[in-house]
Amino acid sequence: MLGRLNHVAIAVPDLAAGVAVYENTLGAKVSAPQPEPDHGVTVVFVDLGNTKVELLEPLGEGSPIAGFLEKNPSGGIHHICYEVDDILKAKDRMISEGARVLGDGEPKIGAHGKPVLFLHPKDFCGTLVELEQA
Ligand code: CO
Repeated sequence: MLGRLNHVAIAVPDLAAGVAVYENTLGAKVSAPQPEPDHGVTVVFVDLGNTKVELLEPLGEGSPIAGFLEKNPSGGIHHICYEVDDILKAKDRMISEGARVLGDGEPKIGAHGKPVLFLHPKDFCGTLVELEQA
C-alpha cells in the first residue's frame, strides 16, 4: 500500500529564519511562502529532487502546530507524508488494522491540492503520519 516519501514537514517558529538556513547555509532550492489558512500554516517547499522538506510556520489563531512549537520552541520534525495510490482504500485499511485516523476520519485537501489523511502518532512509532493520494 505504502508508496514514496512525499515530504518531511518541519515546524518552525520563524519561517524567514528557516528559509535562510535551507537556502543560505544548506544551499537548497526553496519555494516562495504559501499561506494555507484552511490548515493554519504558512508553508515553503524545499525541493530535494527525490522528495521535499516542508517548513511550516503557524498562521492565525489556533494553528494545529502551535502546541507542537510550545513543546519544541526551536522547531522540529512534525510529520512525515507517504503517498498511497487510493486514499479511501488506505483509510479503510487503517481502520480495519485498528489505527486511528485523526479528525472526522475523512480525507481533506492538503497543501498540494490532493486528498490527505493524518494518522495518530501513537499507532505509528511515535510519528505523526500523513497519507497523500499519489
Ligand atoms: Co504534510
